[in-house]
Amino acid sequence: MEFKNLAKARRTERNFDAGIDISDVDVKAILQLASYSPSAFNLQHWRFVVTRDESVKSDLFAYCYFQKQIIECSAVITVCGNLSAYLEAQLIYEDQPSEVKNKFIPMINTIYSSDPELQRDEVMRSGGLVSMSIMYAAKNEGWSTGPMIGFDPKKVSLRLNLEENIIPVMMLTIGKPKTAKEERPHRYRVEELLHYETYGNANLN
Ligand SMILES: Cc1cc2nc3c(=O)[nH]c(=O)nc-3n(C[C@H](O)[C@H](O)[C@H](O)COP(=O)(O)O)c2cc1C
Repeated sequence: MEFKNLAKARRTERNFDAGIDISDVDVKAILQLASYSPSAFNLQHWRFVVTRDESVKSDLFAYCYFQKQIIECSAVITVCGNLSAYLEAQLIYEDQPSEVKNKFIPMINTIYSSDPELQRDEVMRSGGLVSMSIMYAAKNEGWSTGPMIGFDPKKVSLRLNLEENIIPVMMLTIGKPKTAKEERPHRYRVEELLHYETYGNANLN
């Protein structure tokens, strides 16, 4: 789909047709495309848990405050982030020339190793970017999605067996819609959001 149409067509779906399965092949194709998303220092903080099993979904349903799309969607993709991604710099830069390695690996370590807040910020930034890519890739492949942050992160982490350094960033439901989509909710006009050169120089015309 042309990007202009894709951007307009993507909507948050909450009414899924419960009888639709999504295959491994389809899920992997979407996640593969999304994994070309950018990340700081190319650390690719994202990890994905794809849940289709009814009993796991039923627990997630409770931990997502009974949002019914969890039950009715074809799969829940929990986009997670690796807080220790900076420790993988050696591996990620393995094939780079030595001057690149010598520059970036110590830099990454210095920046992140003693700053848990920045580790978390980076996981959230990268997780947000990859989540958006998943939603566009899915839409382009004929699937609808819904981003969700209405969940209890501790309970979700426990149920999905997330390791200590892996945190849930966003849950994405994916499936086929059961009903036609209602009108898109409010959007600011771009002029209401835009400031030129420095903040405060808006032009509302
Ligand atoms: C970070 C984030 C968290 C969200 N959490 C939820 C959620 O828990 N439940 C839900 O129904 N929608 C959730 N949404 C969807 C928004 O309500 C939706 O994107 C917004 O109303 C705009 O609608 P649209 O996506 O159809 O354009 C979330 C969206 C984002 C980006």
